[in-house]
Amino acid sequence: MSLFANLFRSSIGRKFLMALSGLILIGFATGHLVGNLQIFEHPDKINGYALFLRQTGPLLWVARLGLLATVAVHIWAATVLTKENIRARGGQSYSAKTTWIRASLSSRYIRWTGYVVFAFIIYHIAHFTLGLTDPTDYKTHYSYVMEHDYTVAGFPVVAAGTEVENVYLMVYRGFESVPVALFYIIAVGLLSFHLLHGMESLFQTLGWSSQTWVGALRKVVAVFCLLYFLGNLAIPGSILTGALQPHPAAHVHAPMTAQN
Ligand code: HEM
Repeated sequence: MSLFANLFRSSIGRKFLMALSGLILIGFATGHLVGNLQIFEHPDKINGYALFLRQTGPLLWVARLGLLATVAVHIWAATVLTKENIRARGGQSYSAKTTWIRASLSSRYIRWTGYVVFAFIIYHIAHFTLGLTDPTDYKTHYSYVMEHDYTVAGFPVVAAGTEVENVYLMVYRGFESVPVALFYIIAVGLLSFHLLHGMESLFQTLGWSSQTWVGALRKVVAVFCLLYFLGNLAIPGSILTGALQPHPAAHVHAPMTAQN
């Protein structure tokens, strides 16, 4: 059996795939949060960033398909491993009593938090990427003209004066809705909770945890998950409460009054 086939067919291989796919998804989620936090800056930032990503064309599609495949592998490995666990326990559900991790709340609910996060991602793509859930798709209806160049590593990648999609305004308008903002907050809360057990497990599978490091590692994971939650909470939270008002520049070139 080839090494690749072995990864899918053996239990330890599936655990490895689960850990590796989890690691890739954590990388994406962290990068995505860092990109999203540009909402607290001038609209040029997040709008320029969104166009820059779209301009990468085929590369963006490679990343999207890679992400989709990673999610599929993660869910498949989780499903098969859960079934194996239940079978090994004589039909009893998983209670996560491993050698070094106590059966914490996050481990007991990892499957359920996973389902909610998956449902959230489907909704989120329909909401922001496809603009299907809002009566008005702010991203494409209200264009924005860049006031300054958007630069990456010092290189201008989107020039001042370029007309771009108004992702900034779309996010603001999206989170002015109480149920939508609350759903996001609950979903990112559950995602952070999912990561709490997921990250501990993946470090153990990849062999990066030893009895000496377990305590410190658990603290690092807990701090990471808390910061991840707070970062994600800040965006819908500050818009919903009105703590953050849209930058006046976001409306300058948007034909808001003409369309309302
Ligand atoms: C407050 C939290 C979040 C905000 C403000 C946010 C914002 C956005 C925006 C604006 C887009 C669309 C970009 C565009 O089409 O121009 C997007 C896409 C996306 N987001 Fe989020 N996001 C949040 C949380 C999350 C979380 C927690 C996940 C999953 C871990 C996630 C996964 C995705 C995915 C997979 C896409 C589609 C990317 C693509 O097709 O290129 N987002 N997000």
